[in-house]
Amino acid sequence: MPPTLREALDAATRELSSTSDTARLDAEVLLAQLLGKNRAYLRTWPDRRLQEETAQQYMDWVGQRARGVPVAYLIGEREFWSRPFRVSPEVLIPRPETELLVELAIAAITQENLTRILDLGTGSGAIAVTLALECPGTEIWAVDLSETALEIARHNAADLGAAPVRFLRGHWFDPLPPEVRFELIVSNPPYIDPADPHLSLGDIRHEPRQALVSADGGLKDIALIAEGARQVLVPNGRLMFEHGFDQAAAVAAILAKLGYRDIHQHRDLQSHERVTAARYLA
Ligand SMILES: C[S@@+](CC[C@H](N)C(=O)[O-])C[C@H]1O[C@@H](n2cnc3c(N)ncnc32)[C@H](O)[C@@H]1O
Repeated sequence: MPPTLREALDAATRELSSTSDTARLDAEVLLAQLLGKNRAYLRTWPDRRLQEETAQQYMDWVGQRARGVPVAYLIGEREFWSRPFRVSPEVLIPRPETELLVELAIAAITQENLTRILDLGTGSGAIAVTLALECPGTEIWAVDLSETALEIARHNAADLGAAPVRFLRGHWFDPLPPEVRFELIVSNPPYIDPADPHLSLGDIRHEPRQALVSADGGLKDIALIAEGARQVLVPNGRLMFEHGFDQAAAVAAILAKLGYRDIHQHRDLQSHERVTAARYLA
């Protein structure tokens, strides 16, 4: 006989407890998704039995989760800025830290009435699509090297009802038409040092390396973007990056050397300097 909801959850929680810090939550999120219900339903009807097919599928997902596959990849979704974004193993799972970059971008756009924005390395489109939804009337462009990522980003823009975002495939500034200029460039680029031991631990093992890793101790893409942005920003245009919690000084030095001014660094909820913003006077 297939298990009841309570039995299935208890067994899954036991299976996940040695590999996940959030075993019960993971077990509930996976089961709720399979049933097409919310987590409250699981607590309201603990004695209902699963259908045989659902029980099998649940065991398969729990097995994958026990091997470290992120919950977001199994259910195909992650919340960002209170909206559900579609994700797959071809895109980075949007992180709560990145909401700081979005918050600062929205503040700049609204205070200065900025109208043309570029998101470099858009991945699932979390930043570009959120800006398009929160700042109607702005023209948002978004670039990524990965065509699969762009397909997901296009779906997210359409599913969430964003005004058209111009998605372009290529290496940082390469796919942009030569004459176009931006008032703000935002980016959450790859910034992890290839030698960082965290890359072989936990959920991050299953995310695309191209989304995570950058040469020169994690700073190569930040330096490339800072260099190239000078040619596509309007005079006094702004550049904002997310970066590693220990990279703030290095990022500020790169920007200062390239002639950027008004370099400000912003702390996340853990009090780490995770976003650097600057202007380029030209
Ligand atoms: C850290 S992920 C950020 C994804 C998304 N913006 C977010 O914040 O969740 C970096 C993204 O940059 C893209 N990327 C890496 N190298 C690139 C390059 N040379 N040109 C354009 N995009 C690149 C990756 O494919 C990935 O989607």
